[in-house]
Amino acid sequence: MHLAFPENFVLSKNTEKGQEFFKTRWVVPFISNGRWGRGPHSNAETCDSCHTMSAPEKTRDKLRDTRILKLGVRDLQLERKTRPDTRYGNELSRFGVIGQLLPEGDFSLTWINETIGEVALQRPVPNITDLNFGDFEKDTVFSVRQGNPLEGIGVLSEIPAETIIQFEKEQPNLGLDGRINWVASNKSEKLEIGRFGYKASVPTLLSQVSLAFHDELGVTSTDHPNDPCAGTDSVCSELIKISSPEINDERLNQVTAYLKNLTVKSNRTQFSQDGYDVFRSIRCGDCHRTEVLVTWDTDATEKPEYIDPFTDLLIHDMGEGLSDNLPEWKARGRDWRTSSLWGLGSKVNSRTYFLHDGRAKTIEEAIAWHGGEALPSAKAYFSLEPKEKDSLLVFLKSL
Ligand code: HEC
Ligand code: HEC
Repeated sequence: MHLAFPENFVLSKNTEKGQEFFKTRWVVPFISNGRWGRGPHSNAETCDSCHTMSAPEKTRDKLRDTRILKLGVRDLQLERKTRPDTRYGNELSRFGVIGQLLPEGDFSLTWINETIGEVALQRPVPNITDLNFGDFEKDTVFSVRQGNPLEGIGVLSEIPAETIIQFEKEQPNLGLDGRINWVASNKSEKLEIGRFGYKASVPTLLSQVSLAFHDELGVTSTDHPNDPCAGTDSVCSELIKISSPEINDERLNQVTAYLKNLTVKSNRTQFSQDGYDVFRSIRCGDCHRTEVLVTWDTDATEKPEYIDPFTDLLIHDMGEGLSDNLPEWKARGRDWRTSSLWGLGSKVNSRTYFLHDGRAKTIEEAIAWHGGEALPSAKAYFSLEPKEKDSLLVFLKSL
């Protein structure tokens, strides 16, 4: 049996500073205990608040705190297919500045019952409350997204572009229609392979990190120089007196280096070969790819190795049940990037829920939501013998 996750996984060094900035509490100026630069509008105080596994008391509704409401104005003429809402930007912010600036708004979730096959499921619908700065634009659409633990994220940067292009070429042979989401970062016009975010609309880890600082914490950088603010100009400019950018490139690179190195603590003692075989036989592995050749650049010695990223980094039509109606570049409402399955076991243990909006309480519920291109594979799962199902689930929980 080959190793699913590389043993000597070192993609970057000197990650302490980055870890510090990832865990740092950012505060609005001029509160003393923390790092200045958050807001005026934001959704959290630290990156960690939405990307940690260590919150065993999470319940489905408390989990809302790791969820965001992504916004986009549909504009199919644009290559990006959406632009930010004029008032509220890319995301509805639930924090303002106490005593000085109201939050942009808040949202709660209503759970709609739905049955797929024999499985009783629930789908969240956002209800926006306390919208404090006027209406959204007419064509603004909303997408609930959940922050996930980021263990293993570095691997997604390392899968060679040619490999992903090859995956795309193989789609007709697999009876699938996965596509590369070609996207441009904020900095350049050049189209690159999108890898990050639930619709693979961000090309590099660094561009994802600077975007997160901006959208989640309201921390500006050279990439995103303007603070998100739905308040009136006078209130906001008063609150944005801190010099811009609020985080410099060196620190963004440090956070990126830290994230690149987050290894997966898989429970290899339970790795079930039987389960792995079932996984491949019912073609979960056609999208959640295994045995992909990557080359680590460790200490100047290039070391090719086969790993299981459990994703092809392509976007797939997952059916109407999962659609959010929010296009991002080439990804339409129903299209989602194949999730890597690393960390599933820890997610089960920490009661973190699954899929882009955290609608699935169990792995089985997540599989039941697989429609569109993934429907045959999901159906094959529900036709398995109980023993095969068990060994597949043991395998998935060991990741
Ligand atoms: C309020 C919750 C929240 C906070 C705070 C937050 N994130 Fe995220 N993060 C998300 C969500 C939701 C997504 C998925 C976004 C999407 O699909 O558009 C995400 C996506 C990501 C991804 C890509 C994950 C993937 O699988 O492709 C990275 C990397 C990331 N965030 C890093 C950060 C960093 C660095 C910070 C701190 C600056 C941060 N996040 C703060 C919620 C959060
Ligand atoms: C056509 C491609 C495709 C196939 C085949 C497929 N998946 Fe997926 N899978 C996806 C995509 C895309 C997502 C992300 C959907 C979302 O977040 O809404 C996903 C998400 C998941 C998740 C949730 C991960 C998380 O952390 O939230 C699990 C678990 C999963 N798949 C397991 C499986 C299993 C088991 C099979 C085989 C029965 C399978 N998948 C077959 C594309 C596929």
